[in-house]
Amino acid sequence: MRRKLVAANWKMNGSKAEISALANAFVQGIEVASVDVAVFPPALYVEQLAGILAGTGIEFGVQNVSAAEKGAFTGEISMSMVKEFGCHYVLVGHSERRELFGETDAQVAEKVAATLEADLVPVLCVGETLAQREAGVTEQVVAEQVVAVLERVGIESFTRVVVAYEPVWAIGTGKTASPEQAQEVHAYIRSLLAQRDANVAQQCRLLYGGSVKASSAAELFAQEDIDGGLVGGASLIADEFTAICQAAKGA
Ligand code: 13P
Repeated sequence: MRRKLVAANWKMNGSKAEISALANAFVQGIEVASVDVAVFPPALYVEQLAGILAGTGIEFGVQNVSAAEKGAFTGEISMSMVKEFGCHYVLVGHSERRELFGETDAQVAEKVAATLEADLVPVLCVGETLAQREAGVTEQVVAEQVVAVLERVGIESFTRVVVAYEPVWAIGTGKTASPEQAQEVHAYIRSLLAQRDANVAQQCRLLYGGSVKASSAAELFAQEDIDGGLVGGASLIADEFTAICQAAKGA
C-alpha cells in the first residue's frame, strides 16, 4: 500500500510574513498521521520554514538544485546547502524550469541522480503540453522524460523517486485533467516502470499536479494509480491546502 503524499509548490510567491502565516496555518490544520506532506518554498525561505515545521512531521524541500557540487555557478544552490538546511525533498524538472529555463531531460536526469546520491527524495515532474496532447503524443513525451531518468539512475531508484505527472495545459489554468485522463497517464507511467521491475512499479509514488483544488482532490486521489498531488495555486490558501491533505487521508 503506497502512502499518499501531498506537496505544496509555492513557486516564486511569498514574503517572510506570508510564509509564516501559511506555514503556521498548515501546522494547525494538517494531520500527518496518515498522509505525507511536503512544502516547497522559494529557497531563501527554507530556513524560516524549517523553524516553523520543526517536529511537526511536515517535510520541506527546494524547487530546484544544481547537480554540480560547488564552484563558479552564479545563482545556483548546491545539494550540500540543501542538506544543511534540513530539506527532505527536491523538486526536479518542473515544466516551468523546462520551458522557461531550458532544462533538458539530460540535466533533469543529473539532478535526480545528485538528489539520490545525497539521500534526499527527488520529485520528478513530467507532462505534455496542450499541443502535444492534441497531437496524440502524450505517452511518447512522458515516456521520454521518464526513460531519460531511468537510464541514468536505474529502475531500483524508483522505490525512492516520486514522479509527478503535471500536464502543462492544466498548470495554473484552472483546467484540471479529469480523474480518468489523469489515471490513464498514471497507469501508463506505472506500466513503463513495470516493464523493468513490477515490484518497484508498485512501490513508486505517482502524484498528479495541475489545478488541483479541494473540490477536485478527493476524486483524483481515489484513482488507483494516483498517490497524491503536487499543488501550486491552491497551496497558497491555507484552507484549500489543508482540505486537499484531508482528501488524501480518506482516499
Ligand atoms: P497549479 O496547482 O497552480 O496548477 O500548479 C501546479 C504545479 O505546477 C505544481 O507544481
